[in-house]
Amino acid sequence: SRVFISRDMASVALGADDVARAFAQAGCEVVRTGARGLFSIEPLVEVETQAGRIGFGPVGPGDVAAVLDGTHAARLGEVEALPFFAGQQRFTFARCGVIDPLSLDDYAATGGWQGLDAARAQAAQQVVDTVKASGLRGRGGAGFPTGIKWQTVLDASAGDKYIVCNADEGDSGTFADRMLMEGDPYCLIEGMAIAAHAVGAGHGYIYIRSEYPFAIATMRAAIAASAHIVAPFTLEVREGAGAYVCGEETALLDSIEGKRGQVRAKPPLPALQGLFGRPTVINNVLSLAAVPFILAHGAEAYAAVGFGRSRGTMPVQLAGNVRHGGLYEVGFGITLGELVNAIGGGTASRRPVRAVQVGGPLGAYFPPSMFHLPFDYEAFAAAGGLIGHAGITVFDDSVDMAHMARFAMEFCAAESCGKCTPCRIGSTRGVEVMDRIIGARGTLKPVRPEPVEGRLFSSQEKGGASTGSARTGEGYLDRALYSRAPDRIDVSIEAQTALLRDLADTMKYGSLCALGGFTPYPVLSALDYFPEDFGAPAPLKE
Ligand code: NAI
Ligand code: SF4
Repeated sequence: SRVFISRDMASVALGADDVARAFAQAGCEVVRTGARGLFSIEPLVEVETQAGRIGFGPVGPGDVAAVLDGTHAARLGEVEALPFFAGQQRFTFARCGVIDPLSLDDYAATGGWQGLDAARAQAAQQVVDTVKASGLRGRGGAGFPTGIKWQTVLDASAGDKYIVCNADEGDSGTFADRMLMEGDPYCLIEGMAIAAHAVGAGHGYIYIRSEYPFAIATMRAAIAASAHIVAPFTLEVREGAGAYVCGEETALLDSIEGKRGQVRAKPPLPALQGLFGRPTVINNVLSLAAVPFILAHGAEAYAAVGFGRSRGTMPVQLAGNVRHGGLYEVGFGITLGELVNAIGGGTASRRPVRAVQVGGPLGAYFPPSMFHLPFDYEAFAAAGGLIGHAGITVFDDSVDMAHMARFAMEFCAAESCGKCTPCRIGSTRGVEVMDRIIGARGTLKPVRPEPVEGRLFSSQEKGGASTGSARTGEGYLDRALYSRAPDRIDVSIEAQTALLRDLADTMKYGSLCALGGFTPYPVLSALDYFPEDFGAPAPLKE
């Protein structure tokens, strides 16, 4: 019989390769697919029957006989009928988990290349107009209208232009880009070929983080196999080298050019002077992968779904301490509470949900009292947060929010590219302030294991400023302050909290890019929504 088993990195991590081997040894025809996106049922095996594909999961290599005779206790029935899948609107991830990702026949048989064919039958301006009418906004996080970005590139001077795909997916709890590239690589290629036709570009780059070896291999194989279809447009993969900041578009462009990935000042916009100084469309994987649907089914079909100015669907990623972690593609407007409780099933630990962080390490922490928030760019911005790349990380009531605020500063210090002062120095000072607050607060909360020593020093080393330990709050600034006027430093929690807010303000308005500029979101949201974790306002020193 014929069975379908995912070879997505997450499925493999859960044992899918061993299961696939066992079924092959039993004489089954094993088709390796991408992931469906619900990891609590992985490794998932779907058996082809007269009544459709019947799923079993999670299963192990010893379960072959019970699965094949249909008696296995983990029989799920038709996977698409499970509540987790039935409620989704899979515009972008329709093929993920269904087809063999590298089969051109499977891709064409499930509507593949229809969007590209439709685009190539139209003038460039018409394609740009269709993308504008769909309301598609940048799925990397900023939500800038994709059609307007393309218009800028289309209108730019003639000559070489580039399409760059940002697949440097670095946000905590996010994996949608990876899942798409591993599960439906031709969809991304088709989206990039449509963009190339729309703006007049000849060559494209897909910049993938090195932590995604499966995605890199799959995309390279898919590019080779589909070269004749997308020609004369050509494509290549570039591998990132592990810096979070290279997800920022201008640092990414520098990295492709072979330079150290450092943020460029804008303007000029990449749309006008991007890669090698040429007009460049730079979009996230999910933005580009949404385009084939829009061209194949029309702008109206996409825009019909959504909320306010956020049109279409968002592949939301549920991660952290959550019972049903996975990818849930749905129209904007669903509330945070529905996502975390109804779909995610609450925490995996079965303890109460205390906080969720939305939008990666730079996103705000929200308590359950904010669960009425609709998933929408504007609604999240108004609430002091961001959707980002739509990663939701769930925490139960054992979380210490002061430590999470400290982690945000520490992350920024470790990942800062060092170009601007508020981020480079501010983040390290932020760790020190948090250490003072945590120290003054006492051990109201369990203290977590300290992070690896040394990581924190990268920004200081770049600045060449300090030999002190940020971990213990002995940076050069403190030493200078303490040695000069120890009696004039107010290290009470109130004073340190005021200092933290002041610092956050400086970082927010003074940083060159989102890394330094958005670090205040997790810090201030933790402080505002969970003040009890920041201790009773008692003085530290007399
Ligand atoms: P931005 O607001 O500066 O720019 C958004 C995009 O619109 C850029 O591509 C920019 O070049 C383009 N743009 C702006 N005006 C334009 C015009 N008139 N014509 C053509 N293009 C124009 O935001 P930025 O700094 O690029 O991104 C910040 C976002 O990135 C944040 O919202 C954050 O959530 C997200 N982010 C995502 C991460 C991920 O892993 N996906 C990681 C870190 C941050
Ligand atoms: Fe570099 Fe940080 Fe400034 Fe961004 S905010 S340019 S990462 S130093």
